[in-house]
Amino acid sequence: MRLAVVSDIHGNATAFREVLRDIDECRIDAVVCLGDNIGYGPEPEAVINMLRQRNFASVMGNHEMVIRNPDFLEWFNPAARLSLEKTMAAISIANIEYLSGLPDYIIAHGCRFVHGFPPDSPTSYMFEIYPAEMEKTMAEMTEPICFIGHTHELALIAYQEKSINRISLDGGAQSHFLDPEAKYIVNAGSVGQPRDGTSEAKYVIFDDESQSLEIRYVPYDVNDTIKKIHAAGLPRQHALRLSW
Ligand SMILES: [Fe+2]
Repeated sequence: MRLAVVSDIHGNATAFREVLRDIDECRIDAVVCLGDNIGYGPEPEAVINMLRQRNFASVMGNHEMVIRNPDFLEWFNPAARLSLEKTMAAISIANIEYLSGLPDYIIAHGCRFVHGFPPDSPTSYMFEIYPAEMEKTMAEMTEPICFIGHTHELALIAYQEKSINRISLDGGAQSHFLDPEAKYIVNAGSVGQPRDGTSEAKYVIFDDESQSLEIRYVPYDVNDTIKKIHAAGLPRQHALRLSW
């Protein structure tokens, strides 16, 4: 089975359309979204409609938590807060209900999916986790692979024989074979707002037959999204961060 995992689309419908085109060409059997489908970007309603039309499963991101409970707006910096307020105004009631009902984690296809950090946090950042906690979490993980988003970066953490090994996934499209004796956390990058120094949309494909992980870099019309961010009156930095 070939599984595509997409994360942090952040209302960037232009990027997501190209990723869907790529997914359609890659013989994918199932797709799971790691949350933060909205926020920052100019077309949250279009992104949610695409997710729902294709019946993709999605977990709750920290941006969706604000949709569920606007009290969480306090957690965000002023620019993110402004974009979330505009996002809430741009989403239909049916899609607000849909986002509010997303689960904190999903277990499917033999893997775990969570926005921030396993077992079930939409808000913890992987780079804030101390080594001892990382080791404990991975030792206790009941699934061999957990896919996470939230950092908008690509990374592979392997746990084997009680030791942690960080494998870089930066540097373009590539494949890695996973050891069936090891456990992994896969940080799946971001479709709509990468923070790895390149502007392509990123997502990952896991093939459970070959036990391989493929990193996909998908070019899209970044200027189209930038224009839409300005037209929507969203903070300028959300546009500036898209072109590297
Ligand atoms: Fe995010």
